[in-house]
Amino acid sequence: MTTEEGKEKRMELLPWLQSLEYPDSRKSLYTAVLPALLQAVAEIGKALRSSQVSHVGSANAFGDEQLNVDVLAENIIRDTIARCPTVFTASSEEDPVERPSRPDQKTPSPSTHSEQYTVASDPLDGSSIIAPNWTVGTIIGIWDGVTALDQDPAQKQVASVLGVYGPRTNAVVALRVPDTKDVCFEVALSGDDTTRCEVVRPAVQLAKPPFKTRYFAPANLRAAAEDAQYMGLITRFVQEKYTLRYSGGLIPDVVHALVKGHGVYVSPVTGASQAKLRRLYELCPVALVVECAGGMAVDPTDGTRILERVVGHCDERAGLVCGTAGEVEISRDALRRKE
Ligand SMILES: *[C@@H]1O[C@H](CO)[C@@H](O)[C@H](O)[C@H]1NC(C)=O
Repeated sequence: MTTEEGKEKRMELLPWLQSLEYPDSRKSLYTAVLPALLQAVAEIGKALRSSQVSHVGSANAFGDEQLNVDVLAENIIRDTIARCPTVFTASSEEDPVERPSRPDQKTPSPSTHSEQYTVASDPLDGSSIIAPNWTVGTIIGIWDGVTALDQDPAQKQVASVLGVYGPRTNAVVALRVPDTKDVCFEVALSGDDTTRCEVVRPAVQLAKPPFKTRYFAPANLRAAAEDAQYMGLITRFVQEKYTLRYSGGLIPDVVHALVKGHGVYVSPVTGASQAKLRRLYELCPVALVVECAGGMAVDPTDGTRILERVVGHCDERAGLVCGTAGEVEISRDALRRKE
């Protein structure tokens, strides 16, 4: 980012989290779980810098070919979670089954642990663009309780982290903790000292109209060839002189809008192209960040809020329209299936 506006004094993570005046009953989330997961993002960033990318010869549970760097990121997240005593359950896109976060884990009793969390993550999102060294990301959702399944995401997903690995390693964090204000902030992580974490933007917020430049990020553009509604939406953006910003990485593409203050990301579901994004590992955490930044995140098939719908199993998928509210509404209305 080259803009000077929005640049404020940098703060260390911990004092800044303290300043949010969280309830005592959330001490572990703010002082242990979040800092540990941000350090994991820094470690993944550091590891990526020095890794060659290769196939490991196996596929994950979804049939995606697994890369050595997927395994590396997964291990860093799992090891981190295992050191967080209040995280009881974990699952990830690489191993999409909810399991105890430590092998010797007993089912916790609510009386002995006031805080209990479940972590659902996509340790390395953007495998298809990692070989050319494009920006990729990590997606983490933190849920209240010992499972993320059959819960109300709007209430139970209390935090999410989007790690961005570009020339710099940054992360956007959203917190929606009951009885506190929604927060969305950005941190800068260090490649040398992974314990260093500075808040570089304390309030990540999408801008309000009028906009100087309007951006769109159309995923799966090929689908427009056989879908008149998607083609119509794309044509409208082009005719109205929106700027195309699309890298093919969900996280850099969404974070682009958050940094610029405007943008819409569209991943449609059409007759010929099925829903691609996993609710638990991609949609819910991204939706929380976008909502906490003042935007909207909806399901393009029926126009409902992503966070309105309970996730029933680990590989449920859907499309996504998210970003600036006005553009999300335009896209949602344009894509709504007619039949
Ligand atoms: C990938 O790009 C980063 C900067 O974004 C650089 O530090 C790193 O050395 C590059 N890796 C390779 C293998 O070229």
